[in-house]
Amino acid sequence: MYQGAIFDLDGVLVDTAKYHFLAWQALAQKLGIHFTERDNERLKGVSRMASLDVLLSLGDQQYDTATKEKFAQEKNDLYVSYIEKMDATEILPGVTALLTHLQQEKIKICLGSASKNAPLILKRTGLDQYFDAIVDGNDVQKAKPDPEVFLKGAEKLGLAPTFCVVFEDALAGCEAGKAGGMYVVGVGTKENLPLADEVHANLVDFTGDHLFQLKKL
Ligand code: BG6
Ligand code: MG
Repeated sequence: MYQGAIFDLDGVLVDTAKYHFLAWQALAQKLGIHFTERDNERLKGVSRMASLDVLLSLGDQQYDTATKEKFAQEKNDLYVSYIEKMDATEILPGVTALLTHLQQEKIKICLGSASKNAPLILKRTGLDQYFDAIVDGNDVQKAKPDPEVFLKGAEKLGLAPTFCVVFEDALAGCEAGKAGGMYVVGVGTKENLPLADEVHANLVDFTGDHLFQLKKL
């Protein structure tokens, strides 16, 4: 049976995509780049600097590293001003029930996120109480689809990767989970997440009981 659950944060546990969008949009506006919610889809699961590169490519603009770091900092300052106001009402449906059930059943729980702001979000929403281990954007060198974030998570839980289930809403994240040798539950649509072992619209549809019924690969 699976003994560990590793959760992505943005889009799986909390809906922070809207705040990322508002903050990137403000920067785009300043630079005269047209940036839509559809463009924002391309940034899901992608690291901060790689996201900036996507945004700049939309406007066909190039800058040196120091300027790009300044832009990324500006975006992040605005993003942090939004997430500082988050609370438990922004936890996505089904999440608290699933985490509570897993905790009761002694399944180890880890965070596997690309975000450097993960600790602040977990604290503001109160989700921090559920986690046995945290791996976030401050701990990894290689961004998803590299499996580093999930492999480090499994290691922190003291489990072999094959004993872990990954929950992801991004294509790159599903790819990372599979590359790490884990069972991947996609949160979203089959069309967007073809690599996931199974896909659910949200975590209301994925109960703890279902996890225990999963046959290990
Ligand atoms: C991922 C988000 O979880 O974290 C991306 O899906 C985001 O949109 C990335 O760019 C990095 O986040 P942060 O908070 O470190 O800028
Ligand atoms: Mg995500």
